[in-house]
Amino acid sequence: MRTYSSNAQLQSALRGFRHNGQSIGFVPTMGNLHEGHLDLVRKARQLCDIVVVSIFINPLQFGPSDDLDAYPRTLAADKEKLFSEGVQVLYTPGVKDIYPEGMQAQTLVHVPDLGETLCGSSRPGHFDGVTTVVSKLFNIVQPDIAVFGEKDFQQLSIVRKMVKDLCIPINIVGVATTRDEDGLAKSSRNGYLSFEQRRIAPTLNQTLNSCREAIACGFDNFFELESHARIKLLQAGFDADYFAVRDAHTLLAVTEDTEEIAILAAACLGSTRLIDNVRLSLNPVSDWGMLASGH
Ligand code: PAF
Repeated sequence: MRTYSSNAQLQSALRGFRHNGQSIGFVPTMGNLHEGHLDLVRKARQLCDIVVVSIFINPLQFGPSDDLDAYPRTLAADKEKLFSEGVQVLYTPGVKDIYPEGMQAQTLVHVPDLGETLCGSSRPGHFDGVTTVVSKLFNIVQPDIAVFGEKDFQQLSIVRKMVKDLCIPINIVGVATTRDEDGLAKSSRNGYLSFEQRRIAPTLNQTLNSCREAIACGFDNFFELESHARIKLLQAGFDADYFAVRDAHTLLAVTEDTEEIAILAAACLGSTRLIDNVRLSLNPVSDWGMLASGH
Protein backbone atom coordinates (compact mmCIF):
# COMPACT_ATOMS: atom_id res chain seq x y z
CA MET A 1 0.00 0.00 0.00
CA ARG A 2 1.40 3.37 -1.02
CA THR A 3 0.72 6.32 1.28
CA TYR A 4 0.77 9.94 0.09
CA SER A 5 0.09 13.16 1.88
CA SER A 6 1.12 15.42 -0.98
CA ASN A 7 -1.62 16.09 -3.54
CA ALA A 8 0.89 16.27 -6.39
CA GLN A 9 2.48 12.90 -5.59
CA LEU A 10 -0.91 11.25 -5.19
CA GLN A 11 -2.10 12.66 -8.51
CA SER A 12 1.03 11.54 -10.31
CA ALA A 13 0.58 7.96 -9.00
CA LEU A 14 -3.10 7.96 -9.99
CA ARG A 15 -2.25 9.19 -13.50
CA GLY A 16 -0.13 6.03 -13.87
CA PHE A 17 -3.04 3.75 -12.91
CA ARG A 18 -5.41 5.58 -15.25
CA HIS A 19 -2.86 5.38 -18.06
CA ASN A 20 -2.88 1.56 -17.61
CA GLY A 21 -6.67 1.60 -18.02
CA GLN A 22 -7.31 0.75 -14.34
CA SER A 23 -10.51 2.03 -12.75
CA ILE A 24 -10.32 3.93 -9.46
CA GLY A 25 -12.69 3.54 -6.51
CA PHE A 26 -12.53 6.09 -3.70
CA VAL A 27 -13.56 5.84 -0.04
CA PRO A 28 -13.27 9.15 1.83
CA THR A 29 -12.98 8.77 5.63
CA MET A 30 -11.91 10.62 8.73
CA GLY A 31 -10.04 7.57 10.04
CA ASN A 32 -10.69 5.64 13.27
CA LEU A 33 -11.77 2.86 10.95
CA HIS A 34 -14.23 0.15 11.94
CA GLU A 35 -16.00 -2.70 10.16
CA GLY A 36 -18.46 -0.23 8.57
CA HIS A 37 -15.61 1.57 6.77
CA LEU A 38 -14.09 -1.75 5.75
CA ASP A 39 -17.39 -2.73 4.11
CA LEU A 40 -17.11 0.44 2.00
CA VAL A 41 -13.57 -0.54 1.05
CA ARG A 42 -14.72 -4.07 0.12
CA LYS A 43 -17.44 -2.62 -2.11
CA ALA A 44 -14.89 -0.36 -3.84
CA ARG A 45 -12.61 -3.39 -4.35
CA GLN A 46 -15.45 -5.35 -5.95
CA LEU A 47 -16.19 -2.53 -8.37
CA CYS A 48 -12.75 -1.14 -9.24
CA ASP A 49 -9.16 -2.15 -9.95
CA ILE A 50 -7.56 0.39 -7.62
CA VAL A 51 -8.91 1.50 -4.24
CA VAL A 52 -7.93 4.88 -2.82
CA VAL A 53 -8.87 5.64 0.80
CA SER A 54 -8.43 9.10 2.25
CA ILE A 55 -8.04 9.81 5.94
CA PHE A 56 -8.59 13.47 6.67
CA ILE A 57 -10.21 14.85 9.81
CA ASN A 58 -11.92 17.79 8.16
CA PRO A 59 -12.01 20.77 10.55
CA LEU A 60 -14.46 22.58 8.26
CA GLN A 61 -17.30 20.20 9.15
CA PHE A 62 -16.84 20.53 12.93
CA GLY A 63 -18.97 23.16 14.70
CA PRO A 64 -17.78 25.27 17.64
CA SER A 65 -19.39 22.83 20.11
CA ASP A 66 -17.90 19.71 18.43
CA ASP A 67 -14.63 18.65 19.98
CA LEU A 68 -12.26 18.47 17.01
CA ASP A 69 -9.21 17.90 19.23
CA ALA A 70 -10.86 14.90 20.91
CA TYR A 71 -11.59 13.18 17.58
CA PRO A 72 -9.70 9.83 17.71
CA ARG A 73 -6.54 9.71 15.64
CA THR A 74 -5.60 6.06 15.04
CA LEU A 75 -3.46 6.17 11.89
CA ALA A 76 -1.20 3.18 12.64
CA ALA A 77 -4.16 0.85 13.34
CA ASP A 78 -6.09 2.26 10.35
CA LYS A 79 -3.15 1.58 8.04
CA GLU A 80 -2.96 -2.05 9.15
CA LYS A 81 -6.67 -2.57 8.50
CA LEU A 82 -6.49 -1.00 5.03
CA PHE A 83 -3.40 -2.99 4.15
CA SER A 84 -5.19 -6.24 5.16
CA GLU A 85 -8.11 -5.29 2.89
CA GLY A 86 -5.78 -4.92 -0.09
CA VAL A 87 -6.11 -1.14 -0.44
CA GLN A 88 -3.47 0.08 -2.89
CA VAL A 89 -3.40 3.80 -2.09
CA LEU A 90 -3.85 5.69 1.17
CA TYR A 91 -4.12 9.49 0.99
CA THR A 92 -3.48 11.33 4.27
CA PRO A 93 -3.36 15.06 3.50
CA GLY A 94 -2.75 17.66 6.19
CA VAL A 95 -4.98 20.69 6.73
CA LYS A 96 -2.53 22.85 4.68
CA ASP A 97 -2.82 20.46 1.71
CA ILE A 98 -6.60 20.80 1.66
CA TYR A 99 -6.97 24.42 2.78
CA PRO A 100 -3.71 26.10 1.69
CA GLU A 101 -5.19 29.60 2.08
CA GLY A 102 -6.98 28.79 5.34
CA MET A 103 -10.58 27.78 5.92
CA GLN A 104 -11.90 31.36 6.03
CA ALA A 105 -10.74 31.93 2.45
CA GLN A 106 -12.18 28.66 1.17
CA THR A 107 -14.92 28.68 -1.50
CA LEU A 108 -17.82 26.71 -0.05
CA VAL A 109 -20.12 24.21 -1.73
CA HIS A 110 -23.66 24.52 -0.37
CA VAL A 111 -26.45 22.07 -1.16
CA PRO A 112 -29.76 23.83 -0.43
CA ASP A 113 -32.81 22.21 1.24
CA LEU A 114 -31.41 18.68 1.66
CA GLY A 115 -28.49 20.19 3.57
CA GLU A 116 -30.63 22.40 5.79
CA THR A 117 -32.99 19.92 7.40
CA LEU A 118 -32.48 17.23 10.13
CA CYS A 119 -28.74 17.16 11.01
CA GLY A 120 -28.32 20.31 8.90
CA SER A 121 -30.53 22.35 11.22
CA SER A 122 -28.98 20.94 14.42
CA ARG A 123 -25.42 21.34 13.13
CA PRO A 124 -25.32 24.59 11.10
CA GLY A 125 -22.47 24.64 8.58
CA HIS A 126 -21.73 20.93 9.00
CA PHE A 127 -22.88 19.84 5.56
CA ASP A 128 -21.20 22.79 3.84
CA GLY A 129 -17.98 21.50 5.40
CA VAL A 130 -18.73 17.99 4.15
CA THR A 131 -19.66 18.97 0.58
CA THR A 132 -16.73 21.37 0.31
CA VAL A 133 -14.16 18.78 1.38
CA VAL A 134 -15.79 15.97 -0.60
CA SER A 135 -15.79 18.04 -3.79
CA LYS A 136 -12.12 18.96 -3.23
CA LEU A 137 -11.22 15.31 -2.60
CA PHE A 138 -13.18 14.30 -5.72
CA ASN A 139 -11.23 16.82 -7.81
CA ILE A 140 -7.91 15.67 -6.37
CA VAL A 141 -8.54 11.91 -6.71
CA GLN A 142 -10.84 11.99 -9.78
CA PRO A 143 -12.18 8.49 -9.13
CA ASP A 144 -14.64 6.56 -11.29
CA ILE A 145 -16.76 5.71 -8.28
CA ALA A 146 -16.94 6.90 -4.67
CA VAL A 147 -18.43 4.81 -1.87
CA PHE A 148 -20.41 6.17 1.10
CA GLY A 149 -22.29 4.47 3.94
CA GLU A 150 -26.08 4.56 4.16
CA LYS A 151 -25.77 5.09 7.91
CA ASP A 152 -25.15 8.76 7.11
CA PHE A 153 -28.18 8.72 4.84
CA GLN A 154 -28.55 12.49 4.71
CA GLN A 155 -24.86 12.90 3.84
CA LEU A 156 -25.21 10.31 1.07
CA SER A 157 -28.31 12.09 -0.35
CA ILE A 158 -26.51 15.45 -0.26
CA VAL A 159 -23.42 14.07 -2.01
CA ARG A 160 -25.62 12.50 -4.70
CA LYS A 161 -27.38 15.82 -5.27
CA MET A 162 -24.09 17.74 -5.35
CA VAL A 163 -22.65 15.36 -7.95
CA LYS A 164 -25.80 15.64 -10.08
CA ASP A 165 -26.12 19.43 -9.78
CA LEU A 166 -22.43 20.09 -10.49
CA CYS A 167 -22.19 17.44 -13.27
CA ILE A 168 -19.32 15.69 -11.47
CA PRO A 169 -18.58 12.52 -13.48
CA ILE A 170 -18.38 10.16 -10.50
CA ASN A 171 -20.73 7.29 -9.75
CA ILE A 172 -21.83 7.45 -6.09
CA VAL A 173 -22.37 4.04 -4.50
CA GLY A 174 -24.21 3.62 -1.19
CA VAL A 175 -23.49 0.66 1.11
CA ALA A 176 -25.97 -0.72 3.67
CA THR A 177 -25.26 0.09 7.32
CA THR A 178 -23.04 -2.38 9.13
CA ARG A 179 -24.50 -3.28 12.54
CA ASP A 180 -23.49 -5.03 15.73
CA GLU A 181 -25.51 -8.17 16.53
CA ASP A 182 -27.94 -6.19 18.68
CA GLY A 183 -28.67 -3.79 15.79
CA LEU A 184 -26.51 -0.84 16.86
CA ALA A 185 -25.08 0.83 13.74
CA LYS A 186 -21.27 0.69 13.66
CA SER A 187 -19.87 4.14 14.30
CA SER A 188 -16.63 5.68 15.48
CA ARG A 189 -18.74 7.34 18.17
CA ASN A 190 -19.76 4.01 19.76
CA GLY A 191 -16.31 3.99 21.35
CA TYR A 192 -17.36 6.99 23.50
CA LEU A 193 -20.26 5.08 25.11
CA SER A 194 -20.03 3.90 28.71
CA PHE A 195 -20.98 0.28 29.51
CA GLU A 196 -24.47 1.40 30.53
CA GLN A 197 -24.93 3.67 27.48
CA ARG A 198 -23.80 0.85 25.17
CA ARG A 199 -26.55 -1.32 26.71
CA ILE A 200 -29.18 1.35 25.94
CA ALA A 201 -27.86 2.32 22.48
CA PRO A 202 -29.64 -0.43 20.40
CA THR A 203 -32.99 1.11 21.46
CA LEU A 204 -32.41 3.69 18.73
CA ASN A 205 -32.50 1.05 16.00
CA GLN A 206 -35.33 -0.85 17.72
CA THR A 207 -37.45 2.33 17.83
CA LEU A 208 -36.80 3.00 14.13
CA ASN A 209 -37.76 -0.58 13.27
CA SER A 210 -40.98 -0.41 15.32
CA CYS A 211 -41.97 2.76 13.50
CA ARG A 212 -41.17 1.11 10.17
CA GLU A 213 -43.32 -1.91 11.06
CA ALA A 214 -46.23 0.32 12.08
CA ILE A 215 -46.10 2.13 8.72
CA ALA A 216 -45.78 -1.17 6.85
CA CYS A 217 -48.95 -2.31 8.64
CA GLY A 218 -50.80 0.76 7.36
CA PHE A 219 -50.47 3.23 10.25
CA ASP A 220 -50.12 6.61 8.56
CA ASN A 221 -50.30 9.19 11.35
CA PHE A 222 -46.62 10.03 11.14
CA PHE A 223 -46.85 12.85 13.67
CA GLU A 224 -48.14 10.40 16.25
CA LEU A 225 -45.48 7.83 15.35
CA GLU A 226 -42.73 10.45 15.71
CA SER A 227 -44.03 11.66 19.08
CA HIS A 228 -44.37 8.10 20.36
CA ALA A 229 -40.80 7.28 19.25
CA ARG A 230 -39.39 10.40 20.95
CA ILE A 231 -41.09 9.40 24.21
CA LYS A 232 -39.72 5.86 23.90
CA LEU A 233 -36.20 7.21 23.38
CA LEU A 234 -36.54 9.61 26.30
CA GLN A 235 -37.71 6.78 28.56
CA ALA A 236 -34.70 4.70 27.51
CA GLY A 237 -32.33 7.51 28.52
CA PHE A 238 -31.76 9.32 25.20
CA ASP A 239 -32.02 13.03 24.57
CA ALA A 240 -33.64 12.94 21.11
CA ASP A 241 -32.58 15.60 18.62
CA TYR A 242 -35.01 14.47 15.91
CA PHE A 243 -37.05 11.44 14.93
CA ALA A 244 -38.55 12.02 11.51
CA VAL A 245 -40.57 10.09 8.93
CA ARG A 246 -39.62 11.55 5.55
CA ASP A 247 -39.65 10.97 1.82
CA ALA A 248 -36.37 9.12 1.21
CA HIS A 249 -35.66 11.09 -1.96
CA THR A 250 -36.35 14.67 -0.85
CA LEU A 251 -36.02 14.22 2.95
CA LEU A 252 -39.18 16.37 3.14
CA ALA A 253 -42.59 15.33 4.46
CA VAL A 254 -44.12 12.21 2.93
CA THR A 255 -46.57 12.94 0.11
CA GLU A 256 -48.78 10.87 -2.17
CA ASP A 257 -45.85 10.78 -4.63
CA THR A 258 -43.48 9.26 -2.10
CA GLU A 259 -42.12 5.93 -3.31
CA GLU A 260 -39.78 5.23 -0.42
CA ILE A 261 -39.91 6.37 3.18
CA ALA A 262 -36.82 7.07 5.28
CA ILE A 263 -37.17 7.15 9.04
CA LEU A 264 -34.23 9.05 10.45
CA ALA A 265 -33.17 9.73 14.02
CA ALA A 266 -30.44 11.52 15.91
CA ALA A 267 -30.27 11.19 19.68
CA CYS A 268 -27.70 11.74 22.39
CA LEU A 269 -26.62 9.38 25.13
CA GLY A 270 -24.76 11.73 27.46
CA SER A 271 -22.55 13.76 25.13
CA THR A 272 -22.44 11.08 22.39
CA ARG A 273 -24.71 11.84 19.46
CA LEU A 274 -25.84 8.75 17.57
CA ILE A 275 -27.64 8.71 14.23
CA ASP A 276 -29.41 5.91 12.41
CA ASN A 277 -32.09 5.38 9.78
CA VAL A 278 -34.24 2.68 8.22
CA ARG A 279 -36.17 2.74 4.97
CA LEU A 280 -39.40 1.33 3.65
CA SER A 281 -40.31 0.99 0.02
CA LEU A 282 -43.95 1.82 -0.73
CA ASN A 283 -44.56 -0.74 -3.40
CA PRO A 284 -46.76 -1.04 -5.36
CA VAL A 285 -47.38 2.70 -5.58
CA SER A 286 -51.17 2.18 -5.96
CA ASP A 287 -51.31 0.54 -2.50
CA TRP A 288 -49.71 3.62 -1.02
CA GLY A 289 -52.25 5.80 -2.80
CA MET A 290 -54.98 3.87 -0.98
CA LEU A 291 -53.10 4.06 2.30
CA ALA A 292 -52.58 7.82 1.99
CA SER A 293 -56.24 8.43 1.19
CA GLY A 294 -57.30 6.35 4.21
CA HIS A 295 -58.99 3.46 2.32
O1 PAF B 1 -18.45 10.52 6.62
C1 PAF B 1 -17.33 10.99 6.90
O2 PAF B 1 -16.48 10.35 7.49
C2 PAF B 1 -17.01 12.42 6.47
O3 PAF B 1 -18.13 13.23 6.55
C3 PAF B 1 -16.38 12.50 5.07
C4 PAF B 1 -17.34 12.03 3.99
C5 PAF B 1 -15.12 11.67 5.02
C6 PAF B 1 -16.01 13.95 4.74
O4 PAF B 1 -15.09 14.45 5.64
